[in-house]
Amino acid sequence: MSIIFILNGPNLNMLGTRQPSLYGYETLADIEKDCHRHAAVLDLMVDFRQSNYEGELVSWIQEASRKASGLIINAGAYTHTSVALLDALLLNKQPILEVHLSNIYAREAFRQHSYVTPTASGLIAGLGGYGYRLALTAMGELLKKTMILREEQAHHRAPAGRAERSE
Ligand code: DQA
Repeated sequence: MSIIFILNGPNLNMLGTRQPSLYGYETLADIEKDCHRHAAVLDLMVDFRQSNYEGELVSWIQEASRKASGLIINAGAYTHTSVALLDALLLNKQPILEVHLSNIYAREAFRQHSYVTPTASGLIAGLGGYGYRLALTAMGELLKKTMILREEQAHHRAPAGRAERSE
């Protein structure tokens, strides 16, 4: 079964009490529970983590590149500051989806730049915890597409020792 890492950055452990008018009353534990439930429907497995430390997030992104089929990340404030996260994400060959609870493009100017976005296949922002569920659904579709592509490539590959057909 495909494993999806869902990584959360600083202060997201405070959801529920942190600026509820912006981030809602749902806790990170609520979102995690919902992700596990939804992943089971999609036949995916979720490894859900949160850290307030940039280096720990870098190590988890590296771990994801070895163990996960896909990566969903809400890097919190590091989204807007961290070249270290960008560099780690660039090493990942798996699909990456960026999630934000709030719509970062409707907020302060400094939140409107993301170091994660250039590495991501897609971005979901402004839909609260529901964005994580949408990201999982999208990840399932991306993985299916990747598998179909791989099968097609394997099918069209010429048998060993023979030249490939040139059409
Ligand atoms: C956030 C948006 C960031 O700008 C902020 O620093 C966060 C949360 C979001 O999910 O909306 O910590 O990533």
